[in-house]
Amino acid sequence: MTLHTFSLLFYVLAVLCLSVSAANLAWNGHTTPGSDTPSPFRPYYVPPGAKGYDSDSPFVHYSDGWREMHSQAYVGNSLRQTDRAGDYATLSFYGSGIEVFGNCDPYHGIFDVWIDGSLVQKVDAWCNKEYKQQRKYWNFDLQDKKHTVKLVNNPGSTRRRATLDAIVVTRYSDRTRTHSATSAHRSPSPLLLAEAGPTEEWILNQTGTTGVHAMQLAVISPTHALIVDKVEHNPLTINGHPAWAALYNLKTHAVTALSMRSNSFCAGGTFLRNGSMIIVGGNPVVENKTAPSDFGDVDGLQAIRFFHPCDSQSASGCNVYENHARIRMASPRWYTTVVRLSDGSAMMIGGSKKGGWINNATVNNPTVEYFPPKDIKGSNGMPIPLAFLRDTLNSNLFPIAFVLPNGNVFMAANNDTMIYNWKDNSEQRLPSIPNGVRVTYPMAGTALLLPLSPDNEYQPEILICGGSTIDDTKPGYEISSQDAASKQCSRMLLTEAGIAKGWETEDMPDARLMPDAVLLPTGQVVVLNGAGSGTSGYGNVLNQVGASNADNPVLTPVLYTPSAPRGSRFSSAGMPTSKIPRMYHSVATLVPDGRIMIAGSNPNLDRSEKEYGTEYRVEWLSPPYMAKERPQIKDATKQLEFAQERVITVQLPPNAQDVKVVLMDLGYVTHAVHANSRMVYLPASLSADRTELTVTAPPNGMVYPPGPAWLFVVADGVPSIGHSLIIGDGKSPEVDEKALKNVLENTGPDQYEASKSGGEE
Ligand SMILES: *[C@@H]1O[C@H](CO)[C@@H](O)[C@H](O)[C@H]1NC(C)=O
Ligand SMILES: *[C@@H]1O[C@H](CO)[C@@H](O)[C@H](O)[C@H]1NC(C)=O
Ligand SMILES: *[C@@H]1O[C@H](CO)[C@@H](O)[C@H](O)[C@H]1NC(C)=O
Ligand SMILES: *[C@@H]1O[C@H](CO)[C@@H](O)[C@H](O)[C@H]1NC(C)=O
Ligand SMILES: *[C@@H]1O[C@H](CO)[C@@H](O)[C@H](O)[C@H]1NC(C)=O
Repeated sequence: MTLHTFSLLFYVLAVLCLSVSAANLAWNGHTTPGSDTPSPFRPYYVPPGAKGYDSDSPFVHYSDGWREMHSQAYVGNSLRQTDRAGDYATLSFYGSGIEVFGNCDPYHGIFDVWIDGSLVQKVDAWCNKEYKQQRKYWNFDLQDKKHTVKLVNNPGSTRRRATLDAIVVTRYSDRTRTHSATSAHRSPSPLLLAEAGPTEEWILNQTGTTGVHAMQLAVISPTHALIVDKVEHNPLTINGHPAWAALYNLKTHAVTALSMRSNSFCAGGTFLRNGSMIIVGGNPVVENKTAPSDFGDVDGLQAIRFFHPCDSQSASGCNVYENHARIRMASPRWYTTVVRLSDGSAMMIGGSKKGGWINNATVNNPTVEYFPPKDIKGSNGMPIPLAFLRDTLNSNLFPIAFVLPNGNVFMAANNDTMIYNWKDNSEQRLPSIPNGVRVTYPMAGTALLLPLSPDNEYQPEILICGGSTIDDTKPGYEISSQDAASKQCSRMLLTEAGIAKGWETEDMPDARLMPDAVLLPTGQVVVLNGAGSGTSGYGNVLNQVGASNADNPVLTPVLYTPSAPRGSRFSSAGMPTSKIPRMYHSVATLVPDGRIMIAGSNPNLDRSEKEYGTEYRVEWLSPPYMAKERPQIKDATKQLEFAQERVITVQLPPNAQDVKVVLMDLGYVTHAVHANSRMVYLPASLSADRTELTVTAPPNGMVYPPGPAWLFVVADGVPSIGHSLIIGDGKSPEVDEKALKNVLENTGPDQYEASKSGGEE
């Protein structure tokens, strides 16, 4: 074979591999991954790296009363069932996690789970109708060694049925190998440790599991965070199938599954002026071989899903609502960024018209649209083209966007930036990111609008960190998971003088792709998570680790102090190093008590136990202030109108000198984009007896877009616990009925699905 045919063959093979993985990328639960046979989306699943034992495995031992049942609906076509009290089954296994599968129905009673001779849980296998292949018990927290599990049909139960269909053993130990490679990407810079002064201790604590992989994360109440994932085999189930959304209790660590109809794979989100949250866009239904009703999973590309305000401390009655016939976007968007504007409505920016990896001209959706729909210069609700989103192909998905204090929107995509005046649909192009660093998907960096202060008339300053200089016109097979990420942070003051001066750069101690930047109430920024090399996504590049396009996890957070002199803003002093890689699809957010919640990581098509596996464990990073005497907000308003003055009652630490009040939006976090993340200082004066603070609300919705916020009192750098309130009038954003009607009349729901049945792609 000539060299030419060989390289042609290689090319064809590479293209084949790519198209296979591209098709797989959009899997949404209709069939087992890698299979064409439609099957219901059930909880039973053996993740790569785990081991499944069928009920008829010789390693599972039964007492006398069990009967073997046969049906194609059972794992391995067989199931064991007993109606006799005291019957048991045992399995000895090596591993650190176990899952037990069987049926549930109205005849099932309670069974006891014993591990290594101790009763660990009583499981009620009752459910109101029959579901098969259900995960009835799971425990991922065992020590990695030999264990024996014994399942006993509880004699005290009035309902007597017990079934065992299969057992899955998982091995977390494979996933916590030491990541020595990371040090290769560490800067030898001596600055790092010098500046911080006496080392203050940060504590990293791993507690809780999310049950649903945390691809998207947003704090929705004083007690809960919303977690949104894609359709995959999460351990948490709802209505007989795995869940892809949940509420996480920030205090008890309990998780409550939420029912969501459409596939929210790579959606974005924001709160609106009235406190309702919208979760926007996502993934198409790829195959239509079985009825969506089997899965509750419909085309999510144009979806606008509502999560209405829900303060329930038990998460009961909180749910996600969607109805594509009445509420939807005009055009399909996957990887769209959503920001809340100065009028409390939402702007949906860019995205791709269907799933895939890097963007291209065929699938690009280079437009913005609004919810509720707006009529901008005759657009009558329809999407408005933005040249910026065409000019920034290919690495321009999940654009970085922040509302500026004059109401315009800053945007960064690929290696370019601009300011968008949405009212008159005009763009002001800004200098490119220096040194060709690409900062949006799949070369994701992270960004923040730095804290706004009345002391300097709310001058906006943008910080963008990490990303990569990989050539975004290269195909995946010419990119490697080992291609180094960027250390660069770029910062620019968005005033006339600041723009004239341009981007100022500085280096993080570590190169990072897919980092998260989290604002603290102190005005400092914690940069954490991410990888030292590769790109976002999975299944696309050379040298994948498992399926991950990225490698060299960066395990130590770094603190950035914006007000410090350039060159001494970064410090890792006192920072703990995690053992858990947080790669593609990982998230972090500030939570109201002042800690940082860290979750997710899943560079996989479906749940996997192989490196880099699907990560359900949550970590909590406690800044040193958590251990200090905290100021307290004793009483404060639930609503603050713009420019209004209000008195809040506080209890300050005795010798507190420097007392500040800040408003924060904790943002909607996904894919390193912290959309709507924001911090605004409020003018405040302290009463003579130091128990009352008179605070003045932000002047208007451009400084703080109307909607939910968290109020923190910060005394000598130590914040109180956040107090939840609504900024503005709390009313629904204005609806332009004519524009809304025009969108509903002139665009179909689920257009991507419709185009497929019309035979086109
Ligand atoms: C870790 O978190 C758990 C649960 O919140 C708590 O009980 C424990 O005290 C924490 N440990 C440390 C060292 O903070
Ligand atoms: C897709 O599924 C829906 C709902 O089951 C059905 O109405 C529709 O006809 C199907 N389309 C095709 C092309 O099979
Ligand atoms: C554009 O991207 C889509 C989705 O990933 C892919 O199917 C298509 O082949 C790409 N087209 C080109 C010209 O690269
Ligand atoms: C930005 O990226 C484009 C290609 O995507 C490239 O042509 C251009 O030179 C880059 N700009 C800078 C300033 O590096
Ligand atoms: C908030 O406003 C939106 C848009 O008008 C509306 O659809 C939604 O129902 C409102 N939420 C509440 C809780 O009123």
